[in-house]
Amino acid sequence: MEAFLKVEGLTKVFETQAKTRVTAVDHVSFQLEEGETLGVVGESGCGKSTLAKLITRLLEPTAGSILLGGEDITKAHGKALRGAYRRMQMVFQSPMGSFDPRKTIGYSIGESLVNKGVPKAERTQRIATLLEQCGLAAEFAGRYPHEISGGQCQRAAIAQALAIEPKLLICDEATSALDVTVQQQIMDLLKALRRENNLSFLFICHNLALVQSFCDRVLVMRAGKIVEEGTADQLLRAPQSEYTRCLVEAAL
Ligand SMILES: Nc1ncnc2c1ncn2[C@@H]1O[C@H](COP(=O)(O)OP(=O)(O)O)[C@@H](O)[C@H]1O
Ligand SMILES: [Mg+2]
Repeated sequence: MEAFLKVEGLTKVFETQAKTRVTAVDHVSFQLEEGETLGVVGESGCGKSTLAKLITRLLEPTAGSILLGGEDITKAHGKALRGAYRRMQMVFQSPMGSFDPRKTIGYSIGESLVNKGVPKAERTQRIATLLEQCGLAAEFAGRYPHEISGGQCQRAAIAQALAIEPKLLICDEATSALDVTVQQQIMDLLKALRRENNLSFLFICHNLALVQSFCDRVLVMRAGKIVEEGTADQLLRAPQSEYTRCLVEAAL
């Protein structure tokens, strides 16, 4: 069976204004099966966010290919890209960025439903259900982004991502900006949503302990490359590289 997400030789070279070249993602290849939770760890600057942005087409790859559900989306734009976004959605580190400050939370969550042609009454009901699934009262639909806390905003951002019923959620440091107790609540929410919706995850996080508690399999990135791959337990118990061993020690 074809993997749900298949990334091959994915590469991104940035050219800075000073004309230096940075290879942020360097021939990265991996597969993610349907229903699987794949973690990506590595120190700051190793290319995790660039990888997420390449897969979600927020950045143009320099080389390589991305297959989603067997479809080549490496150069997808317009209609093909909207189709891809029905299957994958992204949750970012700073949830405020997912919302237009001038629009209510409910409006933003409902936007993808408008695009899908869901009628207004059904939309209102669906937004309420999504908010409740994410641990927020339905009245949050009427609030503006500045009227809710960071943790509530991340819950709303997850509700927004789920509105379109994607199969894959790409989380880039989705809990890193939150304090520890809120971080745990969001992790619990993601675990519950995974159970209820048979979601796949690409879970990017510099915190190995969080990755270990959540992921089936983990990729270790260093300087744009995948240097190690294994189950979370394998990495913790028997890290193959010195680099992974340092990440493990830092997490303990
Ligand atoms: N737009 C950009 N222009 C130039 N260099 C960039 C750009 N975005 C990221 N980089 C560089 O690419 C590398 C990887 O960055 P990033 O993907 O954000 O790492 P991580 O998310 O793992 O911290 C870093 O060296 C960073 O400075
Ligand atoms: Mg990052």
